[in-house]
Amino acid sequence: MSFPKLWSFHHILMLSVFISTANGYYYHHWSQCIHSFHDLSDMVYIDGYYFNKYMVIQFNSTLGYFVGFTEFGVSTAEIWNNNTALVQETRARVDTFCKPNAETRETAIYGKTVAPKVKLSLVKKGDSRHPSLVMCSAYDFYPEKIKVSWLKNGAAVTSDVTSIEKMPNGDWYYQIHSELEYIPKAGEKISCMVEHAGFSKPMIYDWNPPLPEFEWNTQLLFTIGAAGLMLGIIIAAAGLIYYKSK
Ligand SMILES: *[C@@H]1O[C@H](CO)[C@@H](O)[C@H](O)[C@H]1NC(C)=O
Ligand SMILES: *[C@@H]1O[C@H](CO)[C@@H](O)[C@H](O)[C@H]1NC(C)=O
Repeated sequence: MSFPKLWSFHHILMLSVFISTANGYYYHHWSQCIHSFHDLSDMVYIDGYYFNKYMVIQFNSTLGYFVGFTEFGVSTAEIWNNNTALVQETRARVDTFCKPNAETRETAIYGKTVAPKVKLSLVKKGDSRHPSLVMCSAYDFYPEKIKVSWLKNGAAVTSDVTSIEKMPNGDWYYQIHSELEYIPKAGEKISCMVEHAGFSKPMIYDWNPPLPEFEWNTQLLFTIGAAGLMLGIIIAAAGLIYYKSK
């Protein structure tokens, strides 16, 4: 099983947007700080310069220099890259600009993270021809961002998810419900996977279908019967030993 792709909730901090329009031309400059980990260790700073909606130059802190995307962009990027002070200052923005702002946000939002309480329940009982409907519910979590998905024997299921609904409780917490239709098959394991900032990793909850009523009763009667029989044997044996020892 591998999860890394599913767990990449990128937090994008759009910290500065500069827009100007003149004579029908449109220019904007967009700075982004992107990270997935709460310790901000994977922080990337992206600085994009756009002219008439097309990206002309981009600075990506992973690369560490300006890249031009048009003829004008390529020549300008070359001039900027020759400016050591500018390049160093732009590279440093990961630490001087992105991290301090992200830290403020982390403490303001993610410091108040509350992990969901997850419950699986049977909505509709099927049989070998009619599908069963099982619901995975996550309650009382914060913040709102969450991902609920289904696994069949560990592999992601997408086709039979009939509904997914998220709603606010009205008290800053949220709840979400996802339903899966499936025809029960022997040996098949259905699980619900929940990813949320309150968890350190994706959490997997296995669905244990309730045993049919009749079988359960038979099993119970059998267990009681067996226990009674055992007790009878023990008493008889004890009596026999007592009788012999006298
Ligand atoms: C930044 O550069 C890295 C390395 O080339 C790349 O993997 C990543 O996708 C780039 N990010 C953006 C937003 O372009
Ligand atoms: C950038 O610097 C290199 C090496 O110092 C030089 O060859 C090149 O002409 C410079 N380019 C610009 C556009 O200044």
